[in-house]
Amino acid sequence: MTNFGRVLIEIREELKAPFRLNILSDGLDCYSPEWHIKRMTTLPDGERFRSGADRYAAYLETTEGRLRLDLAFASLQEFLPHATQSLRALDLGCGTGAIAVRLARIGLHVTLLDESLPMLDFAKRAARDTGVTEKIALRHGDATRIADSFDGELFDVVLCHNILEYVEDPCAVLRSAARALRDRSSILSVLVRNQAGEVLKAAIQDGDLAATEHNLTAEWGHESLYGGRARLFAAESLHSMLVAASLVATAERGVRVISDYLPPKVSRNDEYERIFELERKLGRRREFAAVARYTHCLAHRAGPVMRDGA
Ligand SMILES: C[S@@+](CC[C@H](N)C(=O)[O-])C[C@H]1O[C@@H](n2cnc3c(N)ncnc32)[C@H](O)[C@@H]1O
Repeated sequence: MTNFGRVLIEIREELKAPFRLNILSDGLDCYSPEWHIKRMTTLPDGERFRSGADRYAAYLETTEGRLRLDLAFASLQEFLPHATQSLRALDLGCGTGAIAVRLARIGLHVTLLDESLPMLDFAKRAARDTGVTEKIALRHGDATRIADSFDGELFDVVLCHNILEYVEDPCAVLRSAARALRDRSSILSVLVRNQAGEVLKAAIQDGDLAATEHNLTAEWGHESLYGGRARLFAAESLHSMLVAASLVATAERGVRVISDYLPPKVSRNDEYERIFELERKLGRRREFAAVARYTHCLAHRAGPVMRDGA
């Protein structure tokens, strides 16, 4: 078995893990609050995406990972600006480049930025394997300081997919992203972990009533892949952040409303297309989107943005 295959199996086990109760060698119940706190403090935030890039790549091969990518990409495609010439996109916290490569395949020129070199290596290989190397530019850097990396370059599409959960100051990233948008037809695509989704997950998937209650107001959630923490976004807080960055949301979709809770008798592989189509329908409806695991928000600049030095 390849290393990648082994990591994939480990991750499948990890995702199922809330159903198990293990007593670890340190005497703590696996998934007890004490154990969470211990685990959260063992891996520094940025380190997980450097030493664990292969783990993240393997996660994206699971049904959960594929659905998140496929659903976000399908909604993004609906809202791409119409253009007579090739659009330019900037993917902040690009990770393995899974979305960037898809954009390149439909003709966009994409600049990928990430602070993890191993993630950028994955992205480079993905671009090579899909034959889109000439449409891809890789940059190693910090998304909270993109002014340093781009020197006034402007983009038609800026992505912030599952990065705001991990940065110190998500508002700073959104402000920088807004400044990088070319004009008012340009779009910002933001994908974040939904606080309301964490409430349902704790109840339905984990059967953890204390965590369910806690998540109603939690600012941070437990991120099962690395055992770290991830910022949670309530609808109002995301909208306030967008407004503060001179952005206005023009569309919102829920990502993974029911798929995480389907019983084992539903085969994730055999029924993938049906689950995907169902999730597309549910994610468009406000009442279901409100409790999805992720919120996908498409936004535009609210008005003229004062550029640095302008
Ligand atoms: C959860 S992954 C998301 C990857 C990708 N956007 C996706 O949707 O699959 C988060 C990514 O953000 C990157 N990241 C976190 N903080 C960053 C920062 N301040 N600047 C640049 N990249 C950052 C990590 O290295 C990691 O690759």
